[in-house]
Amino acid sequence: MDTMELMKQRHSVRQFTDKALDSEAVKALQQEIDACNKESGMHIQLITDEPEAFQAGKPTYGQFKGCRNYLAIVGPKGKDVEAGYYGERVVLKAQELGINSCWVALTYKKGKAQGTENAGEKRYLVVALGYGENGGVDHKVKSITDVSDYKSGDPDWYKNGLEAALLAPTAMNQQKFRFERNGEKVTAKVAGMGFYTKIDLGIVKYHFEVSAGKGKEVWG
Ligand SMILES: Cc1cc2nc3c(=O)[nH]c(=O)nc-3n(C[C@H](O)[C@H](O)[C@H](O)COP(=O)(O)O)c2cc1C
Repeated sequence: MDTMELMKQRHSVRQFTDKALDSEAVKALQQEIDACNKESGMHIQLITDEPEAFQAGKPTYGQFKGCRNYLAIVGPKGKDVEAGYYGERVVLKAQELGINSCWVALTYKKGKAQGTENAGEKRYLVVALGYGENGGVDHKVKSITDVSDYKSGDPDWYKNGLEAALLAPTAMNQQKFRFERNGEKVTAKVAGMGFYTKIDLGIVKYHFEVSAGKGKEVWG
């Protein structure tokens, strides 16, 4: 399946069935995590069958139900954009493997969550994983002209990248980012005040980069 289709399919899922993660899927996910950590110096960890962080033994915790698996997005301090960028790469791999997800900065038991932080590292947030009771719903999206300098006649690759960026998860769906193009180069910045906007920026940059099809060289 192409990545744009995966991005369209991905929605935040907060209610999970009690089915354990498929062992082949876990292997494939771990490979993607290892590749991300090697490339970036992040220390993303997959935690499986751990009921405490989301209080999976209780009927609901916040909006969560039955979550026993998650990614601990750990890495060196000051790497918020990378946390978003590489975390989303793993999230889309999970989606491809039929595993639903939800980025979670606030509504989990921070003191109970597992994962190792080495000296100089911190846990940025976690991503809940599992097989959803359903696949989630579309989020409301801004238009490409709300978040960029796009004008009619601009290249298709720019439009594709922007459309993909708008499908990305952002904290409270705030979508506080702005893209600008100068020829073949693009800049992406946080636009306005908000929570976790640098992590959001990394997530949307990953969506843009993959869908524009120009690789990392696109960033000016
Ligand atoms: C950085 C970040 C932090 C988030 N924190 C939480 C959270 O603490 N609790 C929660 O239920 N959802 C959280 N979300 C999920 C967003 O609310 C969700 O991605 C957004 O509303 C868009 O919906 P979608 O993911 O279905 O497209 C977070 C998302 C991001 C990107």
